Amino acid sequence: MKILITGGLGFIGSNFIQYELSKHDDVRIANVDNLSYGANVANTRSVEKNPRYSFTRGDITDRDLIARLVSDADVVINFAAQSHVDRSIADPLPFMKSNTEGTLSILDALRRGRGDVELIQVSTDEVYGEVREGSSNEQSKLNPSSPYAASKAAADLWCLAYHRTYGLPVVITRCTNNFGPLQFPEKLIPKVIIRAHQNLKVPLYGEGKNVRDWIYVIDHCEALDLVLKRGLPGQIYNVAGHNSLDNLILVKMILQLMGKDGSLIELVEDRPGHDYRYSLDDSKLRRELGWKPRHTLKDALKSTVDWYLANQDWWRPVATEGVLGASPWKDSR
Ligand SMILES: NC(=O)c1ccc[n+]([C@@H]2O[C@H](COP(=O)([O-])OP(=O)(O)OC[C@H]3O[C@@H](n4cnc5c(N)ncnc54)[C@H](O)[C@@H]3O)[C@@H](O)[C@H]2O)c1
Repeated sequence: MKILITGGLGFIGSNFIQYELSKHDDVRIANVDNLSYGANVANTRSVEKNPRYSFTRGDITDRDLIARLVSDADVVINFAAQSHVDRSIADPLPFMKSNTEGTLSILDALRRGRGDVELIQVSTDEVYGEVREGSSNEQSKLNPSSPYAASKAAADLWCLAYHRTYGLPVVITRCTNNFGPLQFPEKLIPKVIIRAHQNLKVPLYGEGKNVRDWIYVIDHCEALDLVLKRGLPGQIYNVAGHNSLDNLILVKMILQLMGKDGSLIELVEDRPGHDYRYSLDDSKLRRELGWKPRHTLKDALKSTVDWYLANQDWWRPVATEGVLGASPWKDSR
């Protein structure tokens, strides 16, 4: 099987590339990434010499490039996105460009091509917006809050329209918050680990009461691998971690694993429009494809902490003051 991965120099895409190449001998992977700030060429160093792997530097909005790459693929998995909510509040337009227009550019290349190339659109629980009680299932209404979530929700709608109108084989996955090795240090868990390791204050929005569900990135990769094999065209599959807790408890868990004191925590001004809680019902994925996460939160957090402490040469060049520091939206007001 020939898989075109977009955004494979980022966190989840690079974990998926390593996972897929080590799990299946008959898979070839072409990766296209525009090397935007969150990308890291070191993320795919372990597979660079693998004859079943190739890399092209390019942008998914480049229609000629995408048409050429799609013509040599059996399936496209679209990870490419601007992915940081805070940055989307500071400057929304790049999110529309990469996340919405980029997805449309892929869909159009598929439509103009052979018509049988499948697209797996890697989406997010954030498209459902804040869920005060209960959980969102695949039929729940889209109600995005941030510019990031709106750009992803719009992309999902384009995917469903191309499936319905042109019969393109498109599958959407909506996953909860990921964590694990190779995540860019501006995101919550690596930021906490790196700052705490340096005995710097760990900033937490509001009262730290926002609830998120956390999934270890390898469990997400396994879900995507199953969807790749058995997911049905036109379907949406939620992917949950079943580890819901508020940010304060999460940060305290990490500090405890690192032998650090809770006094490092510093409550800071909340993010505008901050969703209180997300929660996914992923019974469809469990029932229809037989998936369940294999990692417990505590063990996976421990491996993640160990990975960041053992791989300081990976994060030190990119963990600048700007990346680890104040929220980018604050500078934009
Ligand atoms: N991280 C999470 O918790 C999470 C949860 C659910 C869904 N997702 C989705 O998973 C996907 C991957 O997320 P991630 O955390 O790995 O993000 P990331 O920011 O680490 O990686 C995104 C990659 O996409 C590349 N990219 C961005 N715009 C591009 C463009 N126009 N053309 C080509 N490449 C481009 C970047 O250079 C980067 O390498 C995203 O679509 C995101 O919305 C992420």
